[in-house]
Amino acid sequence: MSCNVFEMPSRDFFDVINTRKTIRKYKKTIPPIEAIKIIADAGRQAPCATNSQNWEFIAILDPKIKERMGKVVEEKYDELQLKVTNDIDRAKLNGYKYYSMFFTQAPVIFVVVEKLRPSSILTILEKNGVTKEELGEYDTRSSILSMGAAIENMSLTAHALGLGTCWMGAPLVAHKELAHILGLSHGDRAVTLLTVGYPDGDSFVRPHKKNLDEVFRIFV
Ligand SMILES: Cc1cc2nc3c(=O)[nH]c(=O)nc-3n(C[C@H](O)[C@H](O)[C@H](O)COP(=O)(O)O)c2cc1C
Repeated sequence: MSCNVFEMPSRDFFDVINTRKTIRKYKKTIPPIEAIKIIADAGRQAPCATNSQNWEFIAILDPKIKERMGKVVEEKYDELQLKVTNDIDRAKLNGYKYYSMFFTQAPVIFVVVEKLRPSSILTILEKNGVTKEELGEYDTRSSILSMGAAIENMSLTAHALGLGTCWMGAPLVAHKELAHILGLSHGDRAVTLLTVGYPDGDSFVRPHKKNLDEVFRIFV
């Protein structure tokens, strides 16, 4: 079922930030393509290190592709279970599997791809003989931070449009297999699945957030 009439809702900026919460269960209704494009475009507008824009946003609506994605993630967790030798860790890993699998039920799955981009600072240092071990010290992780900026823009935009999202990292244990399904170029890496859909019900709880004084310090 697809919703054809699309009216752009408008919400106060701070209301969007303060009311967004993770949604893990969706109605079957497919959001309008226009809304999907607006979400992707919000990712495109995000800041990124050296303006490299080394991202790609892939929206998956095709049930067959979703099924293939689900299969490789499930298989990967089964494979990882075999590496774990004690029951407690096996149960924990199983918990991650649970939080990995529901994406197949989402009407839209955005795959955020980090495209291969050598870090400018590290490239200079490496060229000038700085060792691999020492290089780690100077890795500012700017590329993955750029992906995060895009993902948050997308998540907030979806919420402003009345859609729910879940930012998902756990399925990416199977990033290589997902890259194969999506035909990603060598070196490009899927870093997040962002599920999108209309929230099914209104009982989703916004988890407790630490108080500001627990996470904020100011030097004046
Ligand atoms: C980097 C990242 C990875 C996440 N991975 C998952 C995931 O794999 N599965 C899941 O159900 N939720 C995942 N989440 C959602 C978090 O569990 C959620 O954001 C957190 O509990 C806070 O809840 P809120 O988003 O409602 O504020 C992830 C969130 C982030 C930022």
